[in-house]
Amino acid sequence: MKNVIDKYYTYIRPYRFLYGWAKDAHDRRQSSMRAKEWEAKGFVGAKLDICGGRNPFKPDEFLNVDIVPFPRVDLVFDVRKQFPFNDGVIAEIISIATLEHLRKPHVLHMLREFFRVLQPGGVLRVSTPDIEAIARGVLRGDDPDTINQHLFGKYKSTDTEDYDVHRWMYTAPQMIQTQHEIGFENAERIPMDIGMHDAEYTYLIRARKPL
Ligand SMILES: C[S@@+](CC[C@H](N)C(=O)[O-])C[C@H]1O[C@@H](n2cnc3c(N)ncnc32)[C@H](O)[C@@H]1O
Repeated sequence: MKNVIDKYYTYIRPYRFLYGWAKDAHDRRQSSMRAKEWEAKGFVGAKLDICGGRNPFKPDEFLNVDIVPFPRVDLVFDVRKQFPFNDGVIAEIISIATLEHLRKPHVLHMLREFFRVLQPGGVLRVSTPDIEAIARGVLRGDDPDTINQHLFGKYKSTDTEDYDVHRWMYTAPQMIQTQHEIGFENAERIPMDIGMHDAEYTYLIRARKPL
């Protein structure tokens, strides 16, 4: 198939937008069906990928939440507002490259919402840039573009700039302490095993809502 596409690519090229359009339409349909199925169950037992955006984590397993209605987003809402779920229904939450996009009061609000909507015993994983590691990178003379991307966010498009820019960062010990203050237990830094983002400048913290 690849050989055929390569051979006729000159002719296919002007119509490649059709492939993108069809794929987006298919993804939107799938996401909307998945969201409706879980809504009918009151989201009891659902797993959330908070701000999966363009790059969802295990989309067959986790519902992708984002403020921007990208094709693979299942639920569109602003995490700075109250989450549209009852208390204690969500089985698991992962938040990757999200916290740094919010101001500190909004991060606290979001973590409290995670605690409220998780089931007792539910696991939270949070991965976000590590400001201490970034500072060490500056002192070491690491690549300035990489450092800037981690500090200020990657520019993706003017349309989404408000949500792509970075606003605040926690050190790992501060994040662990904050999660304990909210009520989570056993918050600890674990190896970056999620297969996304640069482990050099990013941490992963796992915590649990007590039973
Ligand atoms: C860097 S992307 C992370 C995407 C993916 N989780 C990853 O690790 O590659 C950050 C996402 O957060 C979303 N976002 C930013 N502010 C938000 C808000 N207030 N509510 C919901 N989503 C938001 C953006 O739209 C964007 O998709």
